[in-house]
Amino acid sequence: MVKKLAKQIIGSMGFELSRFSESEKKVAEEFEWDLELFAYKDFQVARGIAYSGLMTVDEARFLSTLVQRTSEEDPIIEIGTLFGFSTMVVTINKSKAQKLITVDNYSWNPHNISPVAHKLATASRLQDASSNHNVEILNKSKNDFYNEYSGPIPGLFFCDANHEYESTLDDLRWARQVGAKIICGHDYKSKFPGVKKAVKEFGGPSELVGSLFVL
Ligand SMILES: C[S@@+](CC[C@H](N)C(=O)[O-])C[C@H]1O[C@@H](n2cnc3c(N)ncnc32)[C@H](O)[C@@H]1O
Repeated sequence: MVKKLAKQIIGSMGFELSRFSESEKKVAEEFEWDLELFAYKDFQVARGIAYSGLMTVDEARFLSTLVQRTSEEDPIIEIGTLFGFSTMVVTINKSKAQKLITVDNYSWNPHNISPVAHKLATASRLQDASSNHNVEILNKSKNDFYNEYSGPIPGLFFCDANHEYESTLDDLRWARQVGAKIICGHDYKSKFPGVKKAVKEFGGPSELVGSLFVL
């Protein structure tokens, strides 16, 4: 009754009462979801599940083959953990003993949750990997990581963080400079011209599956 009245008053002022924000409506549109079918909480959980990784199955398969080309004694470096989807792809394709370092400063996520919530969600999701599969999750900016790294030459470097041109150049330059044996990254596609431009300056992709490139 109160809700109906509020709706009428707001409607008479030319506004619409909606449980969902414009950005939430955009997400629903992207997934072709009818928002009428969702309670507010259900929508938040459903979008969290739907948006937990940003890689296609073909790209994940290709990343798997790249991991399988590495040697167990060479560490793997991932820049851009997000919620751990690609981290899990790498983890299940490496040996238990092979070291994987994944770096994120929790500056961005598709749900706009706080950096603290983002970090806690990711840590919990990757808990088994970090406790039992030699996966180290580093909460730091990639440039700090690049300046501080003193470990062995990486067998695989996978960048999937900030997709601006300068930022991608930083990633590729560092990987080249430390002698990473396989250098790859995500989002070589027209939506991210900075990635394409930077990769082309390094000679372009030698292999490309979906938007997953290898230098
Ligand atoms: C596209 S998402 C990574 C997706 C993830 N690799 C996957 O496939 O599931 C980009 C991530 O990079 C992180 N990021 C952005 N800029 C960064 C920076 N300068 N240093 C470290 N992480 C950064 C964001 O917080 C975000 O989690």
